[in-house]
Amino acid sequence: MNTIHTIGYSLIATLLLAGCGASSENSNTAVDKAFLNSTSLPSLHILPVLTDEDGNSNDAKATYTLTANQNVNVNIETPNGNWTTPMWRYNNNPLPMVIKANRGDQMTLNFNNKLMSDSTIHWHGFKIPANMDGGPDFPVAPNKSMTYSFTMNQPAASMWFHPHPDMQTGKQVYMGLAGVFLLNDDITNELEQSNQLPSGDKDITLLVQDRRFGMAQNGVKLLQYKTQDMDNDGMLGDIVLVNGSQSPKLDVSTGKYRLRLYNVSNAKNYDFAFSDGRSFTIVGTDGGLLAKPVKVNHIFMGAAERVEIIVDFSKDRVGSKVALISKAFQDDNMEMGNMGDNDNMNMNDNTEMNNTNMSPMEENNMSNMDNDTNNSNTMNQESTPMQGRMANGTEVNIMRFDVTKEITDTTTIYTSLPQRAEIHNRLDANNADNLGNERQFDMTMDMNGMGGMMTFVINGKTFDPKRVDEYVSQNSTEIWNITNNSPMAHPFHAHAIQWQILSRNGVPASGTDLGWKDTFLVRADESVKIIGKFEPVNQGDYMYHCHILEHEDAGMMGYFRVGDNGNVK
Ligand code: C2O
Ligand code: CU
Ligand code: CU
Repeated sequence: MNTIHTIGYSLIATLLLAGCGASSENSNTAVDKAFLNSTSLPSLHILPVLTDEDGNSNDAKATYTLTANQNVNVNIETPNGNWTTPMWRYNNNPLPMVIKANRGDQMTLNFNNKLMSDSTIHWHGFKIPANMDGGPDFPVAPNKSMTYSFTMNQPAASMWFHPHPDMQTGKQVYMGLAGVFLLNDDITNELEQSNQLPSGDKDITLLVQDRRFGMAQNGVKLLQYKTQDMDNDGMLGDIVLVNGSQSPKLDVSTGKYRLRLYNVSNAKNYDFAFSDGRSFTIVGTDGGLLAKPVKVNHIFMGAAERVEIIVDFSKDRVGSKVALISKAFQDDNMEMGNMGDNDNMNMNDNTEMNNTNMSPMEENNMSNMDNDTNNSNTMNQESTPMQGRMANGTEVNIMRFDVTKEITDTTTIYTSLPQRAEIHNRLDANNADNLGNERQFDMTMDMNGMGGMMTFVINGKTFDPKRVDEYVSQNSTEIWNITNNSPMAHPFHAHAIQWQILSRNGVPASGTDLGWKDTFLVRADESVKIIGKFEPVNQGDYMYHCHILEHEDAGMMGYFRVGDNGNVK
């Protein structure tokens, strides 16, 4: 297959359209009475947990099999009726699967690829050797298998897994391949047993993903991927699914709930809040629990970020309802309204702005590229522009909590994690091995003239599977400085490590930025300084990239090699 990594082209269209209809910034949310009173909401699906195949869930060994399949018929439930959508799923299960493990467990994960294209399973957030990390350098061909085996010696966290094949990650995740990995340790076990963290049926994982569906034909609606030019700047749908359903409801009792919020959308940002403006407590970020919980009334999340929140229904009357929403916000690229004197994007002249469509030739290349690995599941038909696409920043109802049962809840959330938790040790910038020579990652977007093609790059380079971009010594502690010199926010992610954020635009980290992070948003014009320690287990070639999957697939990605023995030939 021809490796074209520069396939974005239509940001300008986004920018032109963004000027009209910008929603007001952080306006007070008007309570959506119709949604709160709706009697047609589907019930939230609780995600199915895989069971350990070795038959003993208490030993420190676990074996699982994940088989990726195309054409798994999924019943999509929405307030406006249900339909069937063929999706790509693991183990033919209509829902994303959950794997639970304990810190230190020896994992054996057998992956069978029954797709018609190469795939991998990448273990997002795990500190594991590069040859087990499921990067694009270890593709698993159709009808082939691979066994991943590793041990996770890192704090308990809400992590996940997804395919990571070269240039096909966005599509495979969009079609439905992603799963949840919940790591526990003796600290989370202790906190759960002593009622300092909700557990059991009060510990709920919520996978939030936006999707676009085609027109119904005989009760079937096909997923639409990259059916509009603008999708190449980040695939946005118009239907937000939570655990596979649109706007579901969950019956809760008058106690505290631990919600693990996963933004595993391809490109969408959310500003999560409750419809009554209530505050809630964030106890965990991507890589584990916070040393001290943080009280907030909203949380902004980019693609691939996770938080664990505690929401308290103990003061709610039985019969009351509250919605989890994503508030309206001003999207970063709205600031491009005044493009004439914006120097963030290297546009040569204004005439290019009228030339936002692909030439017929490019269009053909695009659809051929898709067809290489494609199937019947996506439609190539172009839908009407803007239809099926909800812009970042549009307010949307995510789900609803219906308080149905009175209980006495004795949970008292911890105020400080046990002292042995690693998060208490803030890495000291003065002890970084590259102090004074920090590694620099500059994210930019360029119009490169030819027909308005948009490129997404880091340090001016497009991903090359044969090139190592950064060499890192084993066991070193490094400061990385990520700058965004583009007009939109990018979620930066690096494999193999959990970072501590030092500062944003020079302002020392606070709040949830004090938690372990493997992915973090870098807003337009922002600069984020992070510190991390590469551990003995970190060995080989790993990726760093933007986690807007269409940017990643278009080459906004690079390799860093830890130690001398890499994987890239
Ligand atoms: Cu979640 Cu390189 O990926
Ligand atoms: Cu990752
Ligand atoms: Cu990006």
